[in-house]
Amino acid sequence: MSDVLDFAAVTVVRGGKRLLDAVDWEIREGERWVVLGPNGAGKTTLMQIAGTRMHPSSGTASMLGETMGRVDVFELRPLIGLSSAALANQIPGHETVLNVVVTAAYGTTGRWREEYEKMDERRAFALLHDWGMSTLINREFASLSEGERKRVQIARALMTDPELLILDEPAAGLDLGGREDLVKRLSLLAADEAAPAVVLVTHHLEEIPPGFTHVLMLREGAVVASGPLRETLTEANLAATFDADLKLIANGGRYTAVARDSHAV
Ligand SMILES: Nc1ncnc2c1ncn2[C@@H]1O[C@H](COP(=O)(O)OP(=O)(O)OP(=O)(O)O)[C@@H](O)[C@H]1O
Ligand SMILES: [Mg+2]
Repeated sequence: MSDVLDFAAVTVVRGGKRLLDAVDWEIREGERWVVLGPNGAGKTTLMQIAGTRMHPSSGTASMLGETMGRVDVFELRPLIGLSSAALANQIPGHETVLNVVVTAAYGTTGRWREEYEKMDERRAFALLHDWGMSTLINREFASLSEGERKRVQIARALMTDPELLILDEPAAGLDLGGREDLVKRLSLLAADEAAPAVVLVTHHLEEIPPGFTHVLMLREGAVVASGPLRETLTEANLAATFDADLKLIANGGRYTAVARDSHAV
């Protein structure tokens, strides 16, 4: 069994539609995965399962050696940090930045004593410092810019010191400077040997941080390609994933893709 995540024939059926169709996927310790696919491909559904928020209709989903359906998800959840738009929407806007991060520890300790409170606050502060937010810890979450909000969400996802970090479109809505700042920070995270295994969902190749090692490409709930990034991120696999004739451009660990017929006429 794979260290971090092991999915075998994971299938999700809703309203007669296969949102995920027999997905096999293995993640080992130290790997940094990008998940690519068009709108509606099933990326968020797959992250919901990996984040223990949803059970597969059939197939087996194991994370960190525990199989869903045979384990109390509340034991597994602290080991998996998840950041997604759906979770962000649940954060009360009036909550302070420090509280947004520190409250991620509540569900895990299940206790609330002063010594835990102080330890948790110190950890939350250190994470916010790492993610460039130390001067904003007392600000209301709702008052933050989109980029600041995304960094707070990642700090929150890391609060329980997880073994798997799942980021569902962390760069969505960011301007160019904000995106580049996030890509750099995620690249540093990728290079950190102490960091958990990471899964990053994105639509844009520009958002792939240098140092990410693997890619999973999804289309209509099925895996088009999966494996080491350098071998798997090919024009043929992009064409099959996005149903478009794309030219892949790689430059110093960064990627972009443009339509082959997009040149000026
Ligand atoms: N409860 C549900 N019942 C029926 N269909 C659903 C349900 N939840 C999601 N879907 C559908 O499943 C498909 C996959 O959705 P999902 O959110 O996983 O895609 P995605 O790859 O994350 O897309 P995006 O890039 O737009 O975020 C979509 O067509 C969506 O409408
Ligand atoms: Mg999605």
